[in-house]
Amino acid sequence: MSPPIILGIETSCDETGIGIVRGQELLANQIASSVDEHARFGGVVPEIASRSHLEAIEPALRRACTDAGITLDDVDALAVTAGPGLIGALLVGVATAKALSAALGIPVYGVNHLASHVVVDELQHGPLADPTVGLLVSGGHSSLLLVTDDASVITPLGQTLDDAAGEAFDKVARLLGLPFPGGPWIDRAAVDGDASAISFPRGLSGPGDRERYPYDFSFSGLKTAVARWIATREAAGQGVPVADVAASVQEAIADVLTARTVSACIDHGVDHVVIGGGVAANSRLRAMAQARCDAAGITLRIPRPDLCTDNGAMVAALGSRLVASGVAPSPLDFPTTSHLPVTQRSW
Ligand code: KG4
Ligand code: ZN
Repeated sequence: MSPPIILGIETSCDETGIGIVRGQELLANQIASSVDEHARFGGVVPEIASRSHLEAIEPALRRACTDAGITLDDVDALAVTAGPGLIGALLVGVATAKALSAALGIPVYGVNHLASHVVVDELQHGPLADPTVGLLVSGGHSSLLLVTDDASVITPLGQTLDDAAGEAFDKVARLLGLPFPGGPWIDRAAVDGDASAISFPRGLSGPGDRERYPYDFSFSGLKTAVARWIATREAAGQGVPVADVAASVQEAIADVLTARTVSACIDHGVDHVVIGGGVAANSRLRAMAQARCDAAGITLRIPRPDLCTDNGAMVAALGSRLVASGVAPSPLDFPTTSHLPVTQRSW
């Protein structure tokens, strides 16, 4: 018998994502982004995001079914991001999923966006190793996780004490006059820069921090340091070397993320790492993580960039895993919530 077909819906922020999987085989991954509508405000405007989801979701559903060569009647179960995220944006996806569940008479899983970012790699590289250390780095979250029991138990080891890694990229990009969201622009600008040009601070690397915060991150000091560095240059009438600043900032962020990930592996005797979330698309983070994991004898997995940033396939992947593990579907009145701990995979 062929594995069940799961349709995943993602609307937690500014991407309307519809993904379709058969088991862990990816059949479709349609994304409609409202990012251009937010760019002039320098950040995601929740009301604009919600309205864009409303307009984009139905055409995206149709396109995904066409790509997968199925109709909605072929779908065995639905999965939808129930949190965390922007509440108005989430509600569009959740209401759509609940309506489809009722109309088609199929189960629906209200799932965790953060857990989806980790599990999505199974679509590309097969089942996650047990145990695995997960580095989750997105626009709203940065954490180190211990993923065990066939990805059914996700235990936080550490997290950012202030800004998320993606937020740090976005704020620095803004200081440099680059568009929103800044991460991809910093990545591109850094190609022509010298990563050793400026030594920006590595958060939580002071005396005693290693013991007190072994797996945590802090990026707000980095943003302040960049702002001061730029202000000093400008006060001296000197131009700002955007490529060098971008490369040096990227180096500082990748350095702390990868160093703490390898430490977590060594301390917990784990030799597998998976990296997920939008920042996992960063080319320097990918390269540095690969080099450091190779040196430490750790097997590294990172999904390809389009599976790292928000998408519907990741939601379908987690839904598919829940179905395969025999987890009960969510009740039709499951809540939509802007805060949902990574430990809770579904309702
Ligand atoms: O996971 P994601 O798509 O949405 C959230 O759940 O937050 O992550 C978005 C974040 C943004 O901060 C964006 O700037 C960052 O991921 N990002 C990157 C890159 N691509 C996306 N950061 C650095 N380098 C990239 N190539
Ligand atoms: Zn995300």
